[in-house]
Amino acid sequence: MHGLADRDPNRVIVFDTTLRDGEQAPGFSMSVEAKLTMARALAALGVDVIEAGFAAASPGDAEAVRRVAGEIEGPIFCSLSRAEESDIRAAYGALQSAPKRRLHIFLSTSPIHRAAKLEMSADEVLEKAVRAVSFARTLFDDVEFSAEDAIRTEPAFLAEVMEAVAAAGATTLNIPDTVGYSTPSEIGRIFAGIKRRVARFPGVILSAHCHNDLGMAVANTLSAVAAGARQVEVAVNGIGERAGNCALEEVVMALRTRGDLFGVHTGVDTTKLVSASRLLSALTRSPVVRNKAIVGANAFAHEAGIHQHGMLADARTYEIMRPQDVGFDGTRLVLGKHSGRHAIAKRAEALGYALTGNALGHLFANFKRRADEIGEIDDAELIALILAATADHGGVHAA
Ligand code: KIV
Ligand code: ZN
Repeated sequence: MHGLADRDPNRVIVFDTTLRDGEQAPGFSMSVEAKLTMARALAALGVDVIEAGFAAASPGDAEAVRRVAGEIEGPIFCSLSRAEESDIRAAYGALQSAPKRRLHIFLSTSPIHRAAKLEMSADEVLEKAVRAVSFARTLFDDVEFSAEDAIRTEPAFLAEVMEAVAAAGATTLNIPDTVGYSTPSEIGRIFAGIKRRVARFPGVILSAHCHNDLGMAVANTLSAVAAGARQVEVAVNGIGERAGNCALEEVVMALRTRGDLFGVHTGVDTTKLVSASRLLSALTRSPVVRNKAIVGANAFAHEAGIHQHGMLADARTYEIMRPQDVGFDGTRLVLGKHSGRHAIAKRAEALGYALTGNALGHLFANFKRRADEIGEIDDAELIALILAATADHGGVHAA
């Protein structure tokens, strides 16, 4: 299977690795049941590929791959595998019940990994990669090859490996920034170079897998897409090794919101992004920071008076996406010490109190004092302030 991008050149395949790269990071491990629950949410979200684990890593991982692949319908299910026959066979066994299955082979290509980790020469790495992919193709139609630490690999050697594994039958070529070292302009050049080099394999999909060590995983992934990648490897909430993987919700919404720049689309139902994020957070007991892009509590919340005034006039003044498009109920205008008179009067009106004259002035002064003390003023607190202000100064009527 050469992927959906074969049929539509502008379709970006979303390969979700929340349950593998995400789950292998400290603090994010999940039981088989938790993985099943999350996989169901990922399938509902509309991801194309779910990397359910690394079958050869442990009996628990093999069981998770087997159950996720056997019990959930829709996406392609995938297992990670070293470039070893025994791993490939373990993945094959675990993926037996999946109607659509993929093998994901990885092998390091960079000089530092070849010397320090593999103790292999470049020629030996090349030969091992080709042997593994050729063997894998006897069991799987859909084989992805990842050149681990691709970004720190000599460009000529990386291109040679990619061309050789494509010739051996790899259907997806993943170029991981394993250590989150690249930059948008550099990774764009690397993808463009590999794209030229494998042009004689038109069905082969180039894939980006970026880590976030320098905070550039999403930017680098987008740059790879601009340079021709048609698969993005992502994790919900950006979980993954060290600083994490490219955040699914961020790259999907960037591609959608800036369709004018990228001209591509995914199959993700973006209205389920917030629920997928909250579910993962609950399953792993890892809260999402308030200011997290797309799914954080503040992503569509406004407190500053000037912003609230703009938002009340036209939400497009300060929001580039609709909160409903990612699964929030709506915008949250938070009342606090930065809020202005206009927003307070509007909220009071929504609660059924139309304040005028002295009463509004008095409410505003008391509101600021109280907000300095407690921060956010919720509806109950606001009503108490309104009642106090109107008891002393009148000037209220039913809104
Ligand atoms: O970061 C990485 O290189 C990986 C590979 C196994 C794809 O996770
Ligand atoms: Zn990774």
